[in-house]
Amino acid sequence: MALINSLLKKWYHLLFVFISLFLVQFPNLHDPARFLAEYAGLAVLWLTVVSTELDRKPFSLHGAYSALVLSTLVAGSFVSRLVLRRFGIFSSPFFAPILLLGLLTDRRLTVSVAVFSSALLIVSIEPSSLEFSLLLVCNIVAAVASSGLKKRLQIVRPAFFAVVCNVSFLLLGFFSKEKVVFDRNLLLSLIMPFLFSVVDLGLLPFVEYASLIYSDIDLVELGNMNHPLIKLLSLRAPGTYYHSAIVANLAEAAAEKIGANPILARTAAYFHDVGKVKRPYFYTENIEDKNPHDELNPKLSHLIVLDHVKYGQELARRHRLPLLVQDVIPQHHGTRVQKYFYHKAKEMGENLSEDEFRYTGPKPQFKEAGIIMLADSVEAAFRSVKNPTASRIRSLVEEIVSGIYNERELDESGLTLKDLEAVADEFARVLLNMFKSRIEYPKEEIKKVIVLAENPAHKSDETPSSDQENSESP
Ligand SMILES: [Fe+2]
Ligand SMILES: [Fe+2]
Repeated sequence: MALINSLLKKWYHLLFVFISLFLVQFPNLHDPARFLAEYAGLAVLWLTVVSTELDRKPFSLHGAYSALVLSTLVAGSFVSRLVLRRFGIFSSPFFAPILLLGLLTDRRLTVSVAVFSSALLIVSIEPSSLEFSLLLVCNIVAAVASSGLKKRLQIVRPAFFAVVCNVSFLLLGFFSKEKVVFDRNLLLSLIMPFLFSVVDLGLLPFVEYASLIYSDIDLVELGNMNHPLIKLLSLRAPGTYYHSAIVANLAEAAAEKIGANPILARTAAYFHDVGKVKRPYFYTENIEDKNPHDELNPKLSHLIVLDHVKYGQELARRHRLPLLVQDVIPQHHGTRVQKYFYHKAKEMGENLSEDEFRYTGPKPQFKEAGIIMLADSVEAAFRSVKNPTASRIRSLVEEIVSGIYNERELDESGLTLKDLEAVADEFARVLLNMFKSRIEYPKEEIKKVIVLAENPAHKSDETPSSDQENSESP
């Protein structure tokens, strides 16, 4: 029953397999029985290999991921098959769609798509054993080599591996009995992979703009603090800007440590509180002297603070930020209670439940969102620690991580207890390093040098008083 339900839910996947098989076989559809047998085989392969990967988070959160995979595969397979039939396998851009998906999704999903794409082309062209092996191996190599690229120039890596693959199979064909036109194919094998990689790089910004699914290459660019929203945040809410930069450092280090995506964590952290550009003076990090909440009803304060999430989502949508960065804006508070306002309401004798002071959620849905929720709270708490020591920082971090875990806010994030332990270690390490750099700044030394330079005769008189030494403590 569950299997039938999931098949019904994925009816459009089955329709996609049918359309793509029809397109790559058209106009040679002379044998309906064979077509149906191939369709059944490909449908099973899709449902067991690719569809299960698309059920994983974060791909299952947005239909855009399925749409991206399906459309890239249909268009890529159709063009590849046309070129392949007319000009041969070494001219065909069959690995270009795999390369594009490698840049935009993760390695597991891309490898599974590479296997399906090879099977689709294999049934459509009835290749020789050499072509069959080349398609499969080259596609899988392109999938593995294209994921995790962080710079445009690194695109030469999958192209180079594709060239190695092509030339190896060309040589195999040359020395075996298969007929291979060595001269022409050698030139194509060397040039085409680089050409298709450049075409993919050219297509990348358009695909990203349309799908809001970003490659690491463009996430790095988005996180370079030059985005108009980040500039606006730095002007209107400098305290929040500074807070976001520290959250980004914490989140990036923790994501790296547990094998999540540090680039996504850093970029999303920069934008997580972007909604605070509206009424910035209502948020603690921007309050200078008088707290405006002192004169407000706690319920109204709650609504004002809640608005930074809603307004942040609106700004993110308007600026077409990546889907996962948009997700972090509501998820960094999850469904947590604004305890300060709740307790204030209770002290004022108002009979309100905790639920009335909750953020609207949802809870963090992927690891990077969970890490940013933790980093956000840790940074806010660290700000109020007067004289931080290693042990105080460690216990503060542990207290906050355990607290959020016990509130069950991380239940849907995919973070395990082992991950949380590593995240807490990393947060404590990063904060300790920042704290160390602050106290090690040699203020007295600089003063002494200036005095010496101005009047060397004062050398023996310049002994700092005990008061001056004490003023060095942060
Ligand atoms: Fe926030
Ligand atoms: Fe924040």
